[in-house]
Amino acid sequence: MDAQRLKDSFAHVAMHGDEVPLFFYADLFLHHPETRDLFPVSMAHQRGRLVQALATTVSNVDNLETLRPLLEDLGRDHRKFGAVAAHYPAVGNSLLTTLAHFCGDGWTEDLASDWAAAYEIIAQVMVQAAREDEAHRPAYWDATVMAHERRRFDIAVLRLAVEEPLEYLPGQSVSMESSKRPRLWRFYSMANAPRPDSTMDFHVRMLDGGALSSHLARGLEVGGRLRIGSPVGTLTYDGQSARDVLLVAGSTGLAPLKAILEQISGQADPPRVHLFFGASTADGLYDLPDLEKLAAQFPWLTVVPSVSREPGFPGERGSLPDVVARSGTWRDHDAYVSGPTGMVEATMQQLLAQGVPENQIRVEDFGWSEG
Ligand SMILES: Cc1cc2nc3c(=O)[nH]c(=O)nc-3n(C[C@H](O)[C@H](O)[C@H](O)COP(=O)(O)OP(=O)(O)OC[C@H]3O[C@@H](n4cnc5c(N)ncnc54)[C@H](O)[C@@H]3O)c2cc1C
Ligand code: HEM
Repeated sequence: MDAQRLKDSFAHVAMHGDEVPLFFYADLFLHHPETRDLFPVSMAHQRGRLVQALATTVSNVDNLETLRPLLEDLGRDHRKFGAVAAHYPAVGNSLLTTLAHFCGDGWTEDLASDWAAAYEIIAQVMVQAAREDEAHRPAYWDATVMAHERRRFDIAVLRLAVEEPLEYLPGQSVSMESSKRPRLWRFYSMANAPRPDSTMDFHVRMLDGGALSSHLARGLEVGGRLRIGSPVGTLTYDGQSARDVLLVAGSTGLAPLKAILEQISGQADPPRVHLFFGASTADGLYDLPDLEKLAAQFPWLTVVPSVSREPGFPGERGSLPDVVARSGTWRDHDAYVSGPTGMVEATMQQLLAQGVPENQIRVEDFGWSEG
């Protein structure tokens, strides 16, 4: 199977923009109307998320061993949509029909059979993981809002309680859905290490025009109900490492790093930890009082707040990646970086440029950009 040919053919198809998901969904819903209910009523917010993800994942089949844990997460996580094994061939057929349509004369029998084989391999890993998961975990967890605190007009800290125990590792995320925004699932990171009472904290930043974040940050009340999908993510703490720790949080990117910090604080002999917490303006440092309390309590913890757009700020000023880079040499640290895409990418570049080995850097990219 020629995976490069798969990637090249999708790059060609993707040039057709929004027409591609429109064609895909029209084909899927026409031939398999039973799948329509899995998707939101309005598809306006989807912007071809699934088609892009499908094609990118499938065309990376040559990287199967690296991809496998992510695919297993994805397969388990698809249970919350109501996806079952029988849906996979349906989605695969519509994917191939879509690719054939947009490839035109470039669609050969060889290309078709390579796409079909790659899809089959990927789908099998997902279906298998979902099947094994069915035996011991629900497809989703029901949660109740226990507390909702607005820290700024667009940032809220929520506490949720789940009815059935939900095991996760500090640093991981779950997707959430509200009955007020049916079938719009988005990921949020737990901001605490697992607790015996199964409550979990989340930090949500509302994005302009964002379908779910606006509801979670401004429309939720105590007693409100949410659904939660299975935990995913690899931004987890390497407890075996003897190295000191660098945590870099942009905005609500703080959430998973706070969970890791809590995990570290439970260790008998914690490493030294530097936590950089950045925002555009000082009021974006929505959790700073709590972090400062932790820094006063733990001698191994240093907290460095920084802002990029407030000239009078008394602390560190500048873009967060620059502040991190000029504040130390991090070669001998394990780095955990989380937040908006631009900040995560730039921090990664700065750390690599300093000689931090790639395998000492773990990131969670929230997928949005600072406005
Ligand atoms: C693993 C992971 C963990 C995360 N953890 C957190 C967390 O802890 N806290 C947190 O605040 N966020 C987190 N995020 C981000 C979160 O999942 C959402 O992406 C974010 O809240 C926006 O969701 P939304 O539904 O409000 O926005 P969407 O509706 O998905 O919109 C996102 C952006 O696209 C724009 N947009 C929407 N529709 C269109 C359109 N048709 N055309 C063009 N642009 C459009 C919106 O204006 C908005 O700016 C995480 C993301 C990931 C992947
Ligand atoms: C190889 C097979 C598949 C792959 C690689 C795949 C991958 C993905 C990915 C990466 C996402 C985005 C996750 C997110 O951002 O939340 C997604 C969303 C989704 N998938 Fe799949 N998927 C596959 C098969 C299926 C099948 C068989 C169904 C069932 C009909 C399905 C239903 C959905 C739904 C409902 C969404 C959310 C809608 C959206 O955000 O657009 N997927 N899929």
